[in-house]
Amino acid sequence: MTVAAATATAWRHRHLLDVDVLSPGEIGLVLNGALGMTEVVAGGSARTATLRGVGVTTLFYEASTRTRVSFEVAARRLGAEVVNVTAGASSVTKGESLLDTVRTLEALGARMLVIRHSGSGAPYLAAGQFGGSVVNAGDGRHAHPTQALLDLYTLWRHLAPDADPAGPFLAGRKVAILGDALHSRVARSNLWTLTSAGAAVWICGPATLIDGFGAWATGGIGGSRPFTVTTDLAAALADADAVMALRLQRERMTAGLLPSLAEYAARYGLTRDRLSTARPGALVLHPGPMNEGVEIAPDVANGPQSVVTEQVANGVAVRMAVLELLNAARIAP
Ligand code: CP
Repeated sequence: MTVAAATATAWRHRHLLDVDVLSPGEIGLVLNGALGMTEVVAGGSARTATLRGVGVTTLFYEASTRTRVSFEVAARRLGAEVVNVTAGASSVTKGESLLDTVRTLEALGARMLVIRHSGSGAPYLAAGQFGGSVVNAGDGRHAHPTQALLDLYTLWRHLAPDADPAGPFLAGRKVAILGDALHSRVARSNLWTLTSAGAAVWICGPATLIDGFGAWATGGIGGSRPFTVTTDLAAALADADAVMALRLQRERMTAGLLPSLAEYAARYGLTRDRLSTARPGALVLHPGPMNEGVEIAPDVANGPQSVVTEQVANGVAVRMAVLELLNAARIAP
């Protein structure tokens, strides 16, 4: 099924604010679409032009390399007219509000708005104002939907490439997410997508950095999909098929959550020895940017089991698929 055909029947969303609203079928549409995009990109084909002339504006209130650049590359490959706005170099510094900025960018031709903001919920506010499509490129500690989708795509291609991406293709697989879950929008969005695909998810870190996840785990994702929360690193790594190390988000930490970075690295850093206790060949993921030597050792980050660079590359194909699906929904009668 092509993305265009699938869109007409199954994709229901004008905005992508988080993955919690996506059905397994819609997740499958994104992953299938991304696979098609990967083949287009790898084959050196001319870009598809499904967004020809569409104004795509990226509006970033926080720093970014991977997300901002990959959205720009993705939109250009689809033929869009791309404008990049960095809040720190815009009239935001003169006190312009988020909603005034959104109205201004729409008046200047934006039809799709890709927003990163330090405030959880900011893209939802923007979506209430904007006439086109809003894509959340990361809001505070709340959500990072396209990161979760590209992580899932990477796992699909490695662990179950022949399986239906709309099905429980990670059933029987264990994914350990290590580290600073407390401040991690990546962990929160990944919990939705990984459990939707049937994975057993373990969240592991020092007690101060997994605070609040225990209560959520008891109720389960969406009220029915439980996951495991532990401070026991050995238990989290045992038999894991994939290990995702999270960045220690020092910029979001108030004092006192960790004795020191060295102590964190000593107790929870993903070293080669620790990785050897996971399933042989377990995949190593990290959303980036990495603090090498803190949450992940350099020889693990750049070792043979690491798919970190693939995650980055897959971000373009996944974001192309997302933009195409949203644009089709935006212009649908
Ligand atoms: N993973 C991620 O969001 O990276 P950037 O901050 O570089 O976009």
